[in-house]
Amino acid sequence: QPIHLADYRPPSHLVDSVHLTFRLSPKDTRVKSKIAFRANPEGLDEGNLRLDGENLRLITLSLNGKPLTAFDYLLTPEGLTIPAERLPGDAFTLEAEVAIDPEANTALEGLYTSNGMFCTQCEAEGFRKITFYPDRPDVMAPFTVRIESDLPVLLSNGNPIAQGDGWAEWHDPWPKPAYLFALVAGDLVAHSDSFTTASGAKVDLNIWVRPGDETRCAYAMDALKRSMAWDEQVYGREYDLDVFNIVAVDDFNMGAMENKGLNIFNSKFVLASAETATDRDYDFIEGIVAHEYFHNWTGNRITCRDWFQLCLKEGLTVFRDQQFSADMRSAPVKRIEDVLQLRARQFREDAGPLAHPVRPETYIEINNFYTATVYEKGAEVIRMLRELAGPDAWRAALDEYFARHDGQACTIEDWLQVFEDVAQRDLSQFKRWYSQAGTPRVTAEWSIAGDDLTLTLQQEVPETPGQPLKEPALIPVRLGFLSPEGVDLLPDTVLELDSPDLTRTWDLAALAREAGVPRPDRVIPSLLRGFSAPVILDAPLSAEDRAVLLAHDSDPFNRWEAGRSLLREAIVADLSGTPFDTGMVIDAIGKLAGDETLDPAFRALALGFPSEDDIAQAVHDAGLVPDPTAIHATRQAISERMGTALAPLFRQLYEAHDPGPDYSPDAASAGKRALRNTALRFLSPPSDPSLARAQFDAATNMTDQVAALTCLIAAGDRAAPAAFEAQWKGDRLVMDKWFMLQVSTTPPADALAVARALTEHPLFDWKNPNRFRSVIGGLSMNPAAFHDPSGAGYRFVADWLIRMDGANPQTAARLSTLFETWPRYDTDRQEMIRAELDRIAATEGLSRDMTEMVARIRG
Ligand code: ARG
Ligand code: ZN
Repeated sequence: QPIHLADYRPPSHLVDSVHLTFRLSPKDTRVKSKIAFRANPEGLDEGNLRLDGENLRLITLSLNGKPLTAFDYLLTPEGLTIPAERLPGDAFTLEAEVAIDPEANTALEGLYTSNGMFCTQCEAEGFRKITFYPDRPDVMAPFTVRIESDLPVLLSNGNPIAQGDGWAEWHDPWPKPAYLFALVAGDLVAHSDSFTTASGAKVDLNIWVRPGDETRCAYAMDALKRSMAWDEQVYGREYDLDVFNIVAVDDFNMGAMENKGLNIFNSKFVLASAETATDRDYDFIEGIVAHEYFHNWTGNRITCRDWFQLCLKEGLTVFRDQQFSADMRSAPVKRIEDVLQLRARQFREDAGPLAHPVRPETYIEINNFYTATVYEKGAEVIRMLRELAGPDAWRAALDEYFARHDGQACTIEDWLQVFEDVAQRDLSQFKRWYSQAGTPRVTAEWSIAGDDLTLTLQQEVPETPGQPLKEPALIPVRLGFLSPEGVDLLPDTVLELDSPDLTRTWDLAALAREAGVPRPDRVIPSLLRGFSAPVILDAPLSAEDRAVLLAHDSDPFNRWEAGRSLLREAIVADLSGTPFDTGMVIDAIGKLAGDETLDPAFRALALGFPSEDDIAQAVHDAGLVPDPTAIHATRQAISERMGTALAPLFRQLYEAHDPGPDYSPDAASAGKRALRNTALRFLSPPSDPSLARAQFDAATNMTDQVAALTCLIAAGDRAAPAAFEAQWKGDRLVMDKWFMLQVSTTPPADALAVARALTEHPLFDWKNPNRFRSVIGGLSMNPAAFHDPSGAGYRFVADWLIRMDGANPQTAARLSTLFETWPRYDTDRQEMIRAELDRIAATEGLSRDMTEMVARIRG
């Protein structure tokens, strides 16, 4: 039962107001609804009233106060339809009472319980598990909610309007789709603060957590206030209610949710203290708090017409949170981290059987499309639009977007129309970024003839499932040229590659004159600066060329990129028995890492190795079949060579970048710790992890403790994880790290046995998504264990996916992506993976989520 974008029909009815009353009880919650409907003048069909509803026990139903009987409506497991001829006219009020069972709701969608508190998750289609309703984003209405419960804290969207003993009422004046509805009830305490908007309105801010956790909310609150100020300064967007509430819950399918005025967060993205959270955790908290807050304008005030338009709110909001983090921290470091993520998750997706466009055109289960492509590639598309328009037109277009579409449910066409109007530019070719899947490949060639320096760029968008033929994309390529001595010969230039190929010629003598250097007989192009487009670049740069870029490029992204590609080439060469001057690479990267004028965070990134999965993809791209065991060993060997060759440097970096005993999560201190802990890794190989042991024993913050523990686990040490467990067994979030690290870092030969043993651990509460992801998902970072030649890794994962699917389809289906790279591997592994996929597919009662995923991965 696939759903198609082309089949969109406007709703038959609109909603003028919604009144809900919840009588909360773990096994038998009653939901009374009173909904004012009105026929949609733009409705196209016969006018039947169609309401979604799942797992609801209908108790009463009445229309304009008159009870309905089973003859008046059609009830199915998916919903309820009242035929047009039974409707009393164009406007009417429907009242219903339903019973639901929050405690039995292990899918964590709709209303559920988590450690004794009630909470909701409605995006995308969870509201239909709460009451009968047109659960589609193009139906927007103001909500009034009454909650009855003995629990002390009762929250919903909007502003509080009244409360008494055992009840509270909330009103949200802003019309919203049902997916933004939220309700929370529990024994909670608040970390509170306030924010005054640019126009002088005071907003109460609360972060609600379980008693005891209120000491770990300061950073999230600080991030929230900075986000509110930033959206005013950079986009002119103010907050629009009297209160903004955030609630942390332990059982949550994803990161967080932007419900109007009541954001609900996975507790791992709220709670932080020096002792329990790493710098990376702080970084995520800042970015996700900002992301959810920014949704208030890009997502809530302007929402999506239908779920095919998901990237309208997600791509734009990810781009905005990336901009925010770049402003709060180092912009080049943020860009490199974002591209690392994009390549690791989105390029991987785009290269395999799950490839789909940023705006998909068909789906079976929308929850399967909250993907790296919709989010991260969606953000890259927005970034290119800004690059093409320039910062002033960008800001003007956003102002126009907010002015034109506030209060509406929109499409990508609406969004692009605003840009066409404001920037006066035809975007029909650019729009292909929304409809064509696959990562475009750009090939570059250059030559010098006389004084003519000629650059040719070619593009090819690869075939992807269901899309055999592609049209050329519009690719902004930011570039420069360097002389062999590393002097910039050309100020940053953007070429718009809008056809299969494009050739540009420069006068080399003139460029050299301008730059004040003799005319060189060789140049080094620095292409795709700042990663100006989400493409794979093929440029015939020699190792020497890359070393020049690494040492001298004025674009920090490409400096990093040069080092990263040298390391990748060295590893791939070693794997395929091709000669390569690895010593030169180590020297060049060592020089950069030792450059005291550079940001420590950037230097830490420059020392980072490509992941085993990246290497497997590079091996595959080179036309070879990756062997995960060999990849692990070779990567480790080259890393150890670098550790030995640069030992004095690493010792010096380790000593010089101790930020001191007082932990502060700011970017500068975090950067120092990143560089120091990178040095630690090189200084603590499995053969001698003594420095890591010393750091483990002395650590006073989680960043340093985890860095040391990682080295010790990789060295096969059993005492350190035991000590860590004894220290932290009472802390869920820290124990998630303990589970995850052992699975991801134990040497591959033992990792599966460790993972299996961990699933028997008394704290392995598998229904908790974070815990499940730590252990099962942890294997994605240990490919040599997952791809064990026996197939045991595949069986282990498939067994757990089947089990989890019975409880929580969304979380299970998400992790099925562990299998998405199967076409890269040898036929034995391919067959074993396909057999596991078939075994999952044959499971009785398999969810729609998992059925769709397995079928798509299987191809
Ligand atoms: N809108 C949320 C966010 O981007 C994520 C919701 C994910 N929902 C889902 N069904 N997977 O912050
Ligand atoms: Zn989002």
